Amino acid sequence: MARWFCQVNNHEELLEAAAFAKERSLHIFVLGLGTNLILGKHIDGLVIRNNIRGKTFSDSEVKAASGENWEELVGFCNYKGVPGLENLALIPGSVGAAPIQNIGAYGVELSDRLKTVETLNLITNEVVTFSNADCEFSYRDSRFKKEKEWFVTGVTISPRNELVFEYPDVKAYLEENELKESSKAIYRAVCAARVRKLPDFRRFPNVGSFFKNPIVTTEEYQRLKDRFPEMPKHIDPRGIKLSAAWLIDSLGLKGESVGGISISRQHALVLVNHSAATFDDLQKISKFIRKRVYSAYNVLLEVEPEVCPPQLSL
Ligand code: EPU
Repeated sequence: MARWFCQVNNHEELLEAAAFAKERSLHIFVLGLGTNLILGKHIDGLVIRNNIRGKTFSDSEVKAASGENWEELVGFCNYKGVPGLENLALIPGSVGAAPIQNIGAYGVELSDRLKTVETLNLITNEVVTFSNADCEFSYRDSRFKKEKEWFVTGVTISPRNELVFEYPDVKAYLEENELKESSKAIYRAVCAARVRKLPDFRRFPNVGSFFKNPIVTTEEYQRLKDRFPEMPKHIDPRGIKLSAAWLIDSLGLKGESVGGISISRQHALVLVNHSAATFDDLQKISKFIRKRVYSAYNVLLEVEPEVCPPQLSL
């Protein structure tokens, strides 16, 4: 699949890999754990698998190298009693990928908890630390999505005591289990919700939400609401956030399939690869869903996971 591949375990090996690519004018593709990545075809360049490990904890900050596993980091913080990341429990992937797509769940985005992102510039070899504001975070987005020259080497997170438990799934779990709001209780609630709602990617290969939740203007939302009063919404600083899962589900598309891929019956936003599906199958089912949602609601769905090579479209 890739012309060149290597794994880096530290900064020195990363610099060596970058020099190797420079000497041969190769494109570099950075690979974390691959849980939010769709591979289209042969990669004509150097794939660098990030295995830079290490983490430290103190009362004022959590530092983790980018090759660490995000789920494990959050689990470990929970075990150690470090609050702040509980809403982001069980999100599959590496620590390095987390700021790139500004992961978010159950009312918290990583940008709400992140202090700095440490990087190495693959072109100039400069080591640069970005403050939270410098990362240009927004919904599932940051400057690192466009500026591929920054290799994220680590993140620094500020522990926070402020608890977020307004999300219906979390609230219901706390009530049903008669748990008082705490970082540990929210962690349990989020884990339970994810296990119940999202197909396990280890058994049913998937990349999590396949589409972003579309953000529309208040006027657009009002027009939709008049026709579809039951349509759910979330308030967002950028407008009104609709539920892509609801849009797909309301059209009865759960269970629809193309080739080896189907729309999960468990969650309408998840596409499951049941049997060695091809990129072509994925392209077909993605276009089918987008077309159906657009003709019913006049809303364009945007693909959420990263596609590699980036010039391919879904
Ligand atoms: N819904 C349906 N049908 C379904 C599933 C959900 O109609 O099959 C409706 C329900 O009304 C539900 C609403 O959609 O209340 C929202 O569903 P859910 O709570 O599962 O959240 P989501 O908006 O679909 C987002 C993130 C998830 C994150 C959850 C929880 C995006 C694209 N997805 O999903 O993140 O876990 O919120 O906060 O923002 C991911 O990014 O891969 C991911 C899984």
